[in-house]
Amino acid sequence: MSKFMQAVKVLSAAAVLSFGAASAAQAADVLRVGTEATYAPFEFMGEGGKEVGYDMDIIRAVGEAAGFEVQIMNMGFDALIPSLLSNQIDAVIAAMTITPERAERVDFTAPYYNSGLSVLIRAADKDKYKTLADLKGSVLCGQIGTTGAEKAGELSGGNSKSYNYESEVFNELKAGGCDGAVNDRPVNLYYLATSHAEGIIEMSEMITSEQYGIAVKKGNQELLDKLNAGLKQIRDNGTFAKIHEKWFQVAE
Ligand code: ARG
Repeated sequence: MSKFMQAVKVLSAAAVLSFGAASAAQAADVLRVGTEATYAPFEFMGEGGKEVGYDMDIIRAVGEAAGFEVQIMNMGFDALIPSLLSNQIDAVIAAMTITPERAERVDFTAPYYNSGLSVLIRAADKDKYKTLADLKGSVLCGQIGTTGAEKAGELSGGNSKSYNYESEVFNELKAGGCDGAVNDRPVNLYYLATSHAEGIIEMSEMITSEQYGIAVKKGNQELLDKLNAGLKQIRDNGTFAKIHEKWFQVAE
């Protein structure tokens, strides 16, 4: 064989190989999922810089059931819906409460988690803030764009502050930058149980009951159907219950 023909053979073998690799990569559709990973135990950065948490386990299991390769994209909570609307991502899982306002802009799967809000205060203030009504005139903080931040505005009578990262909300409360922090109750409880939360307590009066859903672009019925089918499949095969127990130590 001539040198030339040898070179052609090598080149065409390489072309076949790289073509093969490209089609293998396309075999599973990539599902780009946006989240905001400072919200333990739902989504937070684990060791090795990987997003971990209840939602992360749920979406990876749902993705697998629905035949997707899940790619997590971490961004600000207030950037999630805009990114969905501009096609930067395909879905959102971020402990996102299904609210009527959001449901006008995006479509939600069936609810996958029952939640609600609670308020953390400094233990030193426990006689000052006994009921939610006592919070009027106090300074309350929450994470930007969340139902907690909205409630912080209402309960304080307009004296609220919002922060990008959940860690900032907790730090502000500890440092006295605000008098109370309004968050999803499981996030407050996780903070009390796992962080250096000395001097911080939860008020006994709870707020609303909320439900989380996975969001997709409005009208993306095909993806919505696949995600709902994936959710149903992992409920039916017991994976959902296992994930719930892993993060909350109790059955759903
Ligand atoms: N459930 C609340 C909401 O939907 C808070 C969610 C915050 N999630 C997050 N990943 N930071 O507004």
